[in-house]
Amino acid sequence: AVEPDLAGRHVVVSAGGTREPLDPVRFLGNRSSGKQGYALARTAAARGARVTLVAANTTGLPDPAGVDVVQAGTAGQLREAVLKAAADADAVVMAAAVADFRPAAYAAGKIKKRDGQEPEPLVLVRNPDILAEISADRARPGQVIVGFAAETDDVLANGRRKLERKGCDLLVVNEVGERKTFGSEQNEAVVLGADGSETPVPYGPKEALADTVWDLVAQRLA
Ligand code: C5P
Repeated sequence: AVEPDLAGRHVVVSAGGTREPLDPVRFLGNRSSGKQGYALARTAAARGARVTLVAANTTGLPDPAGVDVVQAGTAGQLREAVLKAAADADAVVMAAAVADFRPAAYAAGKIKKRDGQEPEPLVLVRNPDILAEISADRARPGQVIVGFAAETDDVLANGRRKLERKGCDLLVVNEVGERKTFGSEQNEAVVLGADGSETPVPYGPKEALADTVWDLVAQRLA
């Protein structure tokens, strides 16, 4: 049996990857499957939490039992949903891959290729950084905020810098590689704490990483 150490807590988890539309049929997206976020939602529910899962384009993953699932397709929609759910949350875990940029313009009709004409350049604008925003402006005192970072090199040093820049309490740093992370059932990570702590999580099921995250969150809530 699992310890109900999150009983009476409300936790918010974002999962999946946002899609930023260019026109009615095209978008800028990313390779996040949502599996790590869903594992976080399932394990939090198993530990007794009330869970709001903000899901971005995670078609194919079944809604975890007993979890409140809110759909959000774009970074803007995900921001609205996370801010709303975070208002009374004890912890927020931003596992979703949120687009840093979106197309500056949305074409209401499908963009066409024209004979003899080069395509228009793609102009991007920045999306708000949701993790930095909720960390700087906590909805309630003591709220624990967790971010994720996928890095390809200098994983720990870059992770430590990102943790400071974002202002969150914990940052789960993944090395992006062949069999790891995207779409896989397994993950390997180091969880960095704003208190200077470093918790390595060996290669294993995404549930194991999720449980380590909740252990660290529960410690900080206690
Ligand atoms: O800066 P980077 O995209 O690497 O940061 C990743 C972390 O920040 C993830 O936790 C992601 O959910 C969050 N993020 C966000 N808003 C953005 C971009 C990323 O909350 N616009």
